[in-house]
Amino acid sequence: MQIQTTAAIIGGGVIGGGWAARFLLMGWDVRVYDPDPEAERKIGEVLAGARRALPMLYDVALPPEGNLTFHDTIADAVTGATWVQESVPERLPLKHKVLAEIIAHAPAGALVGSSTSGFKPSELQEGSKTPDRILVTHPFNPVYLLPLVELVGSSKSSPETFEKAQNLLTDIGFFPLRVEKEIDAHIADRFLEAVWREALWLIKDGIATTAQIDEAIRMGFGLRWAQMGLFETYRIAGGEAGMRHFIEQFGPALAWPWTKLMDVPDLDAALIDKIAAQSDAQSGHLSIRELERLRDDNLVALLRALRQQGSAAGAHLNHHEKIISQTLDNASPLETVARTVPVDWTDYNGHMNEGRYGQVFSDAADSVMRLVGADQTYIDAGLSYFTVETTIKYLAETHAGADIKVTTQVIEGAGKKLKLHHEMMGADGTLHATCTQMLIHVSLETRRSCPPRADVMEEVERLAATHGAKT
Ligand SMILES: NC(=O)c1ccc[n+]([C@@H]2O[C@H](COP(=O)([O-])OP(=O)(O)OC[C@H]3O[C@@H](n4cnc5c(N)ncnc54)[C@H](O)[C@@H]3O)[C@@H](O)[C@H]2O)c1
Repeated sequence: MQIQTTAAIIGGGVIGGGWAARFLLMGWDVRVYDPDPEAERKIGEVLAGARRALPMLYDVALPPEGNLTFHDTIADAVTGATWVQESVPERLPLKHKVLAEIIAHAPAGALVGSSTSGFKPSELQEGSKTPDRILVTHPFNPVYLLPLVELVGSSKSSPETFEKAQNLLTDIGFFPLRVEKEIDAHIADRFLEAVWREALWLIKDGIATTAQIDEAIRMGFGLRWAQMGLFETYRIAGGEAGMRHFIEQFGPALAWPWTKLMDVPDLDAALIDKIAAQSDAQSGHLSIRELERLRDDNLVALLRALRQQGSAAGAHLNHHEKIISQTLDNASPLETVARTVPVDWTDYNGHMNEGRYGQVFSDAADSVMRLVGADQTYIDAGLSYFTVETTIKYLAETHAGADIKVTTQVIEGAGKKLKLHHEMMGADGTLHATCTQMLIHVSLETRRSCPPRADVMEEVERLAATHGAKT
């Protein structure tokens, strides 16, 4: 993916900081305007969290990070921008003022996304001479990890604008959910508010504490929602008779007073004190930074599990990884792996588990196979390589979050044999491990060895001759 683009971030708080981090880590230059004298420090902290967590989601290296600059005016910040993201506080007159200034100074082709949680695009577009350039792009915290962004337009938004925004957001790893009919608070926040209201009543009525409510979510339905959502989950709950049966069975309960959704508890001082005290008792032993780190590590581990299944948000990430993957070139030695060690690869000793070294070198061998033409099409046609011997030397500890690279040499390539030598290095050039691997070419039909196809054989021999012998 060739990236050379610039994003302007107007308002760099919790959400603007997250946008800045995602753009930067996907290779964009980012220009920030925020009148808060502390903005640079605050964005720096969000960026530190993002630099730690986002690369762990992928099995390939991210593009080289873009440049981050801070500017004193909106006019300066939007100079040369392809995309402008507005994330100022949720007040309509302020949003109108800021959006007007952005439109007055940004390049004519730049689109403007607003992070607003509640305002409709038509409200944001009021008074604008170019309403088509303003869209709602509502993300979720942490913006650098969660794929969902609600992409909402009004009747004044053209299909071309939607298309352009969708492509751009997909390039930086988002899953843009197109919402064609605008509504207050879009889609996702409507659910969150329903659950939030119910939770406030449970606390006010003394039925549950903040901790009990969180357990009720994370030990049960939260896990179901994370991988299937609402309707697919309920379809299964209906048993073999499916959705229709589920609605017939539980539909009548909606008429019973199970919830207090239509009512709003008074957020008086007593209720606020009660919630704050319970929350302190539940989580006060951890700082916000520690909680953020725990959240990010948990999200990375969950999302990586979904990637393994190729399901839900994991399927989306697998697709995005293909977009950002670099094609292996013919350098000698070959650079076969470049990635960050994810948090779920470490063991009780606090370093990368030995089995994961095998995985890294196996990925390196897969890169060589693809390079010589033994790719998925070749495998689907019934031919492949099997590893018959691996010798790994563990030379230095490797920790979660470390950037690693593997270089590979083809040290023998003749007939059915393919012998590889891999070296795994850290970002500072430290040699962490070496691996020598013997692969034998096989027929997937007979499960026995056989010669490779002529063109694959030729490539293997060429690489072996180029790389020379290495012991
Ligand atoms: N916090 C969330 O979970 C969340 C999630 C999705 C969307 N949003 C939306 O994102 C927007 C920002 O929310 P936030 O949580 O980041 O708020 P925040 O208070 O953390 O950040 C707002 C930032 O805007 C800056 N600002 C104030 N006036 C400005 C101006 N005139 N020009 C430029 N910057 C200005 C402030 O200094 C601050 O840094 C809101 O519209 C909110 O609804 C928030």
